[in-house]
Amino acid sequence: MIVSRGKFITLEGIDGAGKSTHLETIADYLKRQGRQVIVTREPGGTPLGEKIRALLLSQPMHIETETMLIFAARREHLAQLIIPALAAGRWVVSDRFTDATYAYQGGGRGLSKDRIALLEQWVQEGLQPDLTLVFDVPVEVAEHRLAPTASEHDRFEREGRRFFERVRSSYLDRAAANPGRMRVVDSSRTPAEVKVSVEYILSIVCK
Ligand code: TYD
Repeated sequence: MIVSRGKFITLEGIDGAGKSTHLETIADYLKRQGRQVIVTREPGGTPLGEKIRALLLSQPMHIETETMLIFAARREHLAQLIIPALAAGRWVVSDRFTDATYAYQGGGRGLSKDRIALLEQWVQEGLQPDLTLVFDVPVEVAEHRLAPTASEHDRFEREGRRFFERVRSSYLDRAAANPGRMRVVDSSRTPAEVKVSVEYILSIVCK
């Protein structure tokens, strides 16, 4: 029996853009289409990756240490979960992947894209998502949606407005440069309206 490779879908956007809300919408839609679906996230997705995530979200560190830890967790995620699942014909939906590294470590923190591209090539060996949805909202809207008390915010969520403006523009620039793979979804609308757009995009990809 030949099992065709599953598809790899990633969700991106600044903190508070609402992507996590639509993770279930996407998984439910794909399951209704008869796909076997695995939902996962980055940083994380494996027991080791989740330990690295806890460090990344809490421990101050050098930007290059941060980036290498993100790619270390990603290597494990690809080896243990993403590649085997796709090979078995499953569809993998990940809350964030490498576009987040270009947006946060590159755009937000100013690490050169060339350095990120080196690690990307090493770790992914050409593997890219089939579809990336970028949930886009103005930074002020995202701020209102995040938990109101700053003490609950992780190390990234505590960054200021200018940081998130840079992250948002990096996502939009990448989406403009990769129109085949990346779609921008206007996430300032109601969840019901966003859901309609997401399901429309999936209906095209699922054909
Ligand atoms: P996030 O999806 O926002 O988790 P939650 O919804 O639980 O807060 O991801 C956690 C943070 O990790 C987020 O602020 C962005 C950051 N991040 C990077 O900076 N680079 C990366 O490559 C990835 C995958 C995430």
